[in-house]
Amino acid sequence: MRPYHLNIPTKLYYGRDIWRGALREIEQMLCGSVMIVTTGRSLARLGYLGDLKRAVTESPLVDTLTVFDKVSANPRLSEAEEGVALAKDAKADVIIGFGGGSAMDMAKAVALGAKTDEAVGAFFYGKSAVGKDILPVIAVPTTAGTGSELSRAAILTDSTKKRKGGIRGDALYPRAAIVDSIFTESVPFHITMQTGFDVLAHAMESYVSKAASPYTRMQSEYAVRTVGEMLPRLAQDLQDIEAREKMSYASMIMGINLGNASTGLPHRLQYPLGALTDTSHGQGLAALYCAWLGYEYQYSRESVEEMTSILAGRSIRGKEACTGAMREFITRLGLPVALQEMGIGREQLDIMAEAVTGELANDPAAQEQDIVRKIYERAWRRT
Ligand SMILES: [Fe+2]
Repeated sequence: MRPYHLNIPTKLYYGRDIWRGALREIEQMLCGSVMIVTTGRSLARLGYLGDLKRAVTESPLVDTLTVFDKVSANPRLSEAEEGVALAKDAKADVIIGFGGGSAMDMAKAVALGAKTDEAVGAFFYGKSAVGKDILPVIAVPTTAGTGSELSRAAILTDSTKKRKGGIRGDALYPRAAIVDSIFTESVPFHITMQTGFDVLAHAMESYVSKAASPYTRMQSEYAVRTVGEMLPRLAQDLQDIEAREKMSYASMIMGINLGNASTGLPHRLQYPLGALTDTSHGQGLAALYCAWLGYEYQYSRESVEEMTSILAGRSIRGKEACTGAMREFITRLGLPVALQEMGIGREQLDIMAEAVTGELANDPAAQEQDIVRKIYERAWRRT
């Protein structure tokens, strides 16, 4: 067996209705000036933000609390700079990211920017490398999807240049993650399906990744099975508590895979799509997935058949059967299966293809000539 190493530096708490106890466990981390970075509106309306603010203020070592809630669904570079200015003003000692992936990614970016005179944009465009200097981040996800609570990346969008990309570095691992499925129980249908599909994407892409290990592959299998069983259950009944818990768990363990096996072409190709159309990560992934799977099949046939069979709960063999099963699954969730469904014009495919950045080589299908353009083209045509 090939040797590998595993990096899980985040202190991790998982369960239902455990967040208050977890905060008490890490009260040494919660000290001085605390800043909550959140997407705000719905979490405030549901009372979750108020509850968290109260619990933080009552924590014995906390002096002040600041809330930054200007975070878009595709968090922007300009918002990060705004958050950094606020964190510096407040002399923040620790940042809590409370919300979906956007809030947690923004928390990481703010924590990074607050400890340097460099603009966040310098890290975003690779002009500065992420060092060790960063404020501690406590990540509290409220959706089951992105796995950002355990990953070493902050995904941002430069809305002026329409460019979406990631700041990456080991310092970006949150110091603690509190994964409490109770927060996910009020997430509406479409966001539940979109974020749930992201879990599946992390599982499948990290499974075929050249950086996969026996450990991450085992976790992928578990996550694919969980999504295959639980997400359709949630599509029928959003109040299914057991399904919510299991999706939170699957999302969390895929966060470990993000840091240890990485994602592949669909994630790299979704970024330009999200930046251009301001559509969600999960929607874009769904629209790209069947096209990618068809190409991936040529390079990772056994893995694709295995994953698709686990997802569908029956044996699936052959390229057409695999892409067909995926299309059927995506359709059941009410997600798009083609770029045309997202309002993308054919003339935009070249613009997107040129904007693809990041590491592609972990994906076995990346060796195919002109693969980026081919996947966009096929995903656009709905085949
Ligand atoms: Fe993702």
